[in-house]
Amino acid sequence: MEMPAIFLVGLFCVLFNDGTEVDASQPEFQNFQSCNLMVNESQPYRTSYHFQPPKNWLNDPNGPMLYKGLYHLFYQYNPNSALFGDGMVWAHSVSYDLINWVHLNHALHPTEPFDIKSCWSGSVTILPGNKPVILYTGIDANNTQVQNLAMPKNLSDPLLKEWIKFSQNPVITPPIGIEGDHFRDPTTAWLGADGKWNVIIGSSINDQGMAILYQSDDFVNWSRYQDPLYSKEKTGMWECPDFFPVSVNSTNGVDTSVINPGVKHVMKASFNSHDYYMIGTYVPGMEKYIPDTDFTGSNTDLRYDYGKFYASKTFFDSVKDRRILWGWINESDSAEDDINKGWSGLQSIPRQVWLDRSGSQLVLWPVEEINKLHDKQVSIQHKKLDGGSVLEIPDITASQADVEVLFELPELEEAELLNSTWVDPQKMCTDANAAVRGRLGPFGLLALATEDLTEQTAIFFRIFRGHNAYTVLMCSDQSRSSLKEKVDKTTYGAFVNIDPQHEKISLRSLIDHSIIESFGGEGRTCISSRVYPQLAVHKEAHLYVFNNGTQSITISKLNAWGMSKAQFIYEENCFSYKASQ
Ligand SMILES: *[C@@H]1O[C@H](CO)[C@@H](O)[C@H](O)[C@H]1NC(C)=O
Ligand SMILES: *[C@@H]1O[C@H](CO)[C@@H](O)[C@H](O)[C@H]1NC(C)=O
Ligand SMILES: *[C@@H]1O[C@H](CO)[C@@H](O)[C@H](O)[C@H]1NC(C)=O
Ligand SMILES: *[C@@H]1O[C@H](CO)[C@@H](O)[C@H](O)[C@H]1NC(C)=O
Ligand SMILES: *[C@@H]1O[C@H](CO)[C@@H](O)[C@H](O)[C@H]1NC(C)=O
Ligand SMILES: *[C@@H]1O[C@H](CO)[C@@H](O)[C@H](O)[C@H]1NC(C)=O
Ligand SMILES: *[C@@H]1O[C@H](CO)[C@@H](O)[C@H](O)[C@H]1NC(C)=O
Ligand SMILES: *[C@@H]1O[C@H](CO)[C@@H](O)[C@H](O)[C@H]1NC(C)=O
Repeated sequence: MEMPAIFLVGLFCVLFNDGTEVDASQPEFQNFQSCNLMVNESQPYRTSYHFQPPKNWLNDPNGPMLYKGLYHLFYQYNPNSALFGDGMVWAHSVSYDLINWVHLNHALHPTEPFDIKSCWSGSVTILPGNKPVILYTGIDANNTQVQNLAMPKNLSDPLLKEWIKFSQNPVITPPIGIEGDHFRDPTTAWLGADGKWNVIIGSSINDQGMAILYQSDDFVNWSRYQDPLYSKEKTGMWECPDFFPVSVNSTNGVDTSVINPGVKHVMKASFNSHDYYMIGTYVPGMEKYIPDTDFTGSNTDLRYDYGKFYASKTFFDSVKDRRILWGWINESDSAEDDINKGWSGLQSIPRQVWLDRSGSQLVLWPVEEINKLHDKQVSIQHKKLDGGSVLEIPDITASQADVEVLFELPELEEAELLNSTWVDPQKMCTDANAAVRGRLGPFGLLALATEDLTEQTAIFFRIFRGHNAYTVLMCSDQSRSSLKEKVDKTTYGAFVNIDPQHEKISLRSLIDHSIIESFGGEGRTCISSRVYPQLAVHKEAHLYVFNNGTQSITISKLNAWGMSKAQFIYEENCFSYKASQ
């Protein structure tokens, strides 16, 4: 126990001294040993480098931001249970690198009539003068959803440990015509050229989901704009809307208030258990959003992730000029399992977001900081994989790994013909899972697999030939992921918007005990899954690359790394932050 404690003190000192605005201070850890015992490390499904609290229920990420050199993440947390319930709080953590975290005391918990039942989701806006402010949904004594403000008690404290709720809360209550339980999750505000702050709030009327727009001169007195910024019939209640600009010709992010011809605007809404988005044009002043492609309600609508990923939120990192996305990834096991584990819910690895070259979709990619955890590396180059072969990627911790592979298809013209009635990629993956042999594919990875492959999660591609183009299908097949029953083993699937005539097919998977986050086509299609192998745990977990098509393919390049554990300091009293004399 001595060694890690010393290492951590050293690590954080160096980072603190590196920070431009916090160099006068020096953190210390106390009582490290007992703090570390907060977590039951012997559980096979607990993750090693994903964000999770020591116990209990976690859901939506809230108010992510960068403030005085520290990343802050707030999140929905039930302090009383491994299941969702009343009395939700804003838990609060800080980090220098988005990977290693210190958990602080809760920032907001139910105390006042305007949030006495729960402090639900919301966002942070950084007001001029570098002043962060939280706008969140309170569940009041009447179970009505109202919007409240909270400000930091001490702006000089980079940890922003204490937050003061505004005395005149609530600042926004449900307008006439909106149900009191259909009015929540305010976004980060953007500043218009007219000097007005704009915020959208998720809602619905009957089954028509919508983002209701509010405007304010002073962030306190808010007026509803006559029309919603956007609405769509048959989408149901919109939760956790997000609205932000993306640069049309750069992977750099831009601040939320940027409006000029060099950006397009993304509108995201969470409904139907998925995060859907549109790319379009925002016309300020008229307060209109004109999407390039509207929601259709089908399985081909754009999503951040075609597996598990919900209630996400982005923020702008002004130091590294990038926009970063956080999302909640829930469990696939039963409530009973969650009670036994003592916890439920993970945050995704934060993903950088930018507009694809095509302009028609976003690209999501794990933040570069995750590479700091790379440990032992294995590489394979120019290796032919005949139809029906399975090749082990040896010598790394397969239960805790990052693997990136690039496939070349020398026999592309041998691809099966696409049947024009196949329009639902998830159904295509379910019907033709990894065990159904094709021609070009299935090929990909078998993660968290036993040596005899009785347990395995297959992340794979299949290629089809159409009239004048090829179609690339990406699947994550959980059907054989665990011998355990009472687990949701739904297979996920999506198309990858690439042309295999001009581009090799890439796949990256971040594997962490009970989660696999996969990025196809360099981040154009993402699929996250939760799996609970019974046998393929810890040292019994293996990782393979496979080709179950009849045609051979080539691994042009493969790099795999075992991953180190991220550092989590779980209790504020394990961590004291002192200004040096
Ligand atoms: C840790 O978790 C394992 C597996 O769920 C369980 O058997 C064990 O009793 C737990 N240990 C403690 C100290 O809670
Ligand atoms: C709840 O509703 C009652 C009756 O309409 C009202 O008097 C009371 O002020 C409401 N409470 C809150 C916290 O809004
Ligand atoms: C505010 O935070 C700074 C930095 O942590 C600290 O030095 C100062 O004492 C705090 N002020 C108050 C009033 O707590
Ligand atoms: C709030 O803003 C509206 C619209 O700008 C204005 O008409 C109203 O007087 C303001 N109310 C207060 C209390 O400032
Ligand atoms: C794209 O970037 C170039 C410089 O890299 C710039 O000159 C041009 O105006 C940009 N286009 C738009 C639409 O912003
Ligand atoms: C969480 O997971 C379950 C089971 O896998 C799923 O049915 C449900 O829709 C998910 N909930 C959300 C909000 O994503
Ligand atoms: C296409 O798929 C449909 C439905 O599965 C099937 O009935 C039909 O025969 C297929 N057409 C061809 C040309 O294979
Ligand atoms: C490959 O296909 C065969 C035949 O359908 C199947 O039995 C086997 O399980 C598949 N292999 C993998 C790795 O899925």
